[in-house]
Amino acid sequence: MESVREALRACLGRSHRQAWGMPAGFYTSPEFLALEVDDLFRKEWVCIGRVEEAAAPGDYWTVDLLGEPLLVVRAGDGRLRVLSNVCRHRGMPVAGGRGHARHFQCPYHAWTYDLRGRLLRAPLIEGREDFDQAGCGLPEVATEVWQGFLFVNLDGQAPPLAPRLGGLLPLVRNYHMEEMVLGHCETEAWETNWKCLTENFMEGYHLSTVHYETLHPITPTRLCEHFPAGEGYLGYYSRFPPDLPQRGRYHPDLTDAERNCSVMFAIMPGLVAGAAGHMTTFICMQPESVDRVRGKRGIIFGGPDIGDGERRAVVDLFERTMAEDKVQLANLRRGLGARSFRPGPLGPPDVEGTVWDFYRYMARRLGRG
Ligand code: FES
Ligand SMILES: [Fe+2]
Repeated sequence: MESVREALRACLGRSHRQAWGMPAGFYTSPEFLALEVDDLFRKEWVCIGRVEEAAAPGDYWTVDLLGEPLLVVRAGDGRLRVLSNVCRHRGMPVAGGRGHARHFQCPYHAWTYDLRGRLLRAPLIEGREDFDQAGCGLPEVATEVWQGFLFVNLDGQAPPLAPRLGGLLPLVRNYHMEEMVLGHCETEAWETNWKCLTENFMEGYHLSTVHYETLHPITPTRLCEHFPAGEGYLGYYSRFPPDLPQRGRYHPDLTDAERNCSVMFAIMPGLVAGAAGHMTTFICMQPESVDRVRGKRGIIFGGPDIGDGERRAVVDLFERTMAEDKVQLANLRRGLGARSFRPGPLGPPDVEGTVWDFYRYMARRLGRG
């Protein structure tokens, strides 16, 4: 683990032009993963999905984040809350899946909570003098919404997220992701390290090789352009060839330059996305082990005007590229597990600068003991 931290610290003293890959331990060390979970994922804002997944009062869905069962629910006051989904009686998860409810009844002994998490009923126990029923609700987890993406902070101590994304907002504002609506969503575990998935989504170097038939005609490696990273984000422009026809209806606020590229961005740790005129693709992820990552991937669409055929084509292209990446990342994991592996130099900033930005973020956050 100390050798991983040493390699991270070395990144801070070098420029993009002197960038090298990280040693295998960065991706394979269980001790380093424990540090990432405790000092990064539990302490930071982590994206778990979209606000429109619970659009109307009573809508809810559940997710486990780093072993914490969570219940996302919109109550009658219109507020979206994220509650601990663990019964205050003896610890059973209260709700499962997703749906619409008026209240939540624990399946074990029928303790019942309202949509704000307040305990309504505790059969046969009510009225006991040593039991403060009003103080026995499901605890609320800190949330922040940015451009329609729902973030939670498990330890409740993270400073606000939006100010740290101040440099990213002007680059993506005109795509109006806050108006887009989730139209495709899959959750799946991939056999790779979460950082491999992050780096893979965020670098354009492999676009014209791995995705030669899928993405290369739209966003070839040669047209990638890195933009400077900020404290909590990094990214690049994935530009389209000039003769590429427009796909779907674009937001009228978009400039010509914005219409002709995807803004690929990561909000660390755990959210990667690509904003384009007619839709945005994203993956929000959490590590399950050093070589397993759970990803919730989706597409949000800009409006109802997109036809069914166009929508299907977008989903199909995204899923094909994801399948291509999945194979590569499982193989990458095998390579990183080899004792013989020694990292090499990274490509120029426009195609792999985001990987370097990511190392430097990790170095700032976890490089010092
Ligand atoms: S654990 Fe929920 S009612 Fe007993
Ligand atoms: Fe890819």
